[in-house]
Amino acid sequence: MTTAQTMRAVVFERYGPPSRLSLRKVPVPEPAAGEVRVQVFASTIGRTDTATLRAHPFFARAMTGLIRPKMTTLGMDFAGVVDAIGPEVTTYRPGDRVFGLSPDRFGAHAEFLCLPENEAIARIPADTSFKAAVVGEGAWYAHSTTSLLSKGQNCLIYGASGAIGTAAVQLAKSRDAQVTAVVGHRHLDLAERLGADRVVNYETQDFTGLGAIYDLVLDAVGKTSWFACRPLLKPGGIFCATDLGPGWSNMILGTWFAMTGSKRVRIPFPADAPGFIRHLSGLLADGRFNGVFDRSYKLEEIVEAFHYVETEQKTGIVVVNVRPEAEAEGEG
Ligand SMILES: NC(=O)c1ccc[n+]([C@@H]2O[C@H](COP(=O)([O-])OP(=O)(O)OC[C@H]3O[C@@H](n4cnc5c(N)ncnc54)[C@H](OP(=O)(O)O)[C@@H]3O)[C@@H](O)[C@H]2O)c1
Repeated sequence: MTTAQTMRAVVFERYGPPSRLSLRKVPVPEPAAGEVRVQVFASTIGRTDTATLRAHPFFARAMTGLIRPKMTTLGMDFAGVVDAIGPEVTTYRPGDRVFGLSPDRFGAHAEFLCLPENEAIARIPADTSFKAAVVGEGAWYAHSTTSLLSKGQNCLIYGASGAIGTAAVQLAKSRDAQVTAVVGHRHLDLAERLGADRVVNYETQDFTGLGAIYDLVLDAVGKTSWFACRPLLKPGGIFCATDLGPGWSNMILGTWFAMTGSKRVRIPFPADAPGFIRHLSGLLADGRFNGVFDRSYKLEEIVEAFHYVETEQKTGIVVVNVRPEAEAEGEG
């Protein structure tokens, strides 16, 4: 049980650019009945964080707060140690090493976070470090698409170097699918290491002219379109996107196809975060999923870190090292 009354947290009170974020002292949250409090060692900055900060797209405000943000501390991924438990908690005890996702409350860009024990939380596998466990967010989004794949099917993942793309390659392989990964020159080796069966350099090759057709094409970085990928699909094949697409085309087409009873164009919405985190825990434990990490930042460097994520050039995951002492002590 911590004796600290205040903690450091990154707070924003108005939507806007990263300069709206500030590191402050705020009260340590108390776990309610059924909740655990986690001392956060590591978190991440994902595109959900950057989009939520800027309230983009604008209709997201319906969920995040119309005028001002409802949750004032971002951070969906967390890894740390259970530090206190509320009444009626049965699964966790103080000292348990845990990781997970906080998609409704966010709040992991802070030293402590409370969440219900039956939400998206699991024990960190024994040989996995805190940093290696903050892999949930991009993987959760990727899983909403790769879970559509069956054994032996083939897929093309466009933009296999981001948080979603690197996860999608591994999750598709874990389902025994054949994977073609499309990446830029600097990520060719990475895509191969992740297990892609074929790697295509979008800077020198036209990925639409490979002479192959697929059960599923995923645009993991919002940089291509249904119109470009349509000839790549088998009859009944699916185009999945992580973004609205040029001129909101993915959303408009997805709605249109859904109205006609077809599922050819989709922006899969991630669901069942608790179930997914349990699944991911198993993949981490048996080494079938390994996060791809880019830079790490301290809480004090959060504004710079958000600017970096907004370049859309990161490789995999950007980490927030909430408790750098842990790394120095060999616990990182
Ligand atoms: N991360 C999330 O949780 C999340 C949530 C909701 C929606 N989204 C949406 O999902 C998409 C992906 O998110 P993410 O976090 O995985 O992306 P990300 O990590 O920011 O993607 C960055 C990667 O994209 C590659 N890239 C840039 N331009 C490219 C191009 N023209 N063709 C192919 N690859 C290109 C970059 O490498 P190179 O420049 O070397 O190719 C870089 O490695 C975004 O559109 C985002 O808005 C993300």
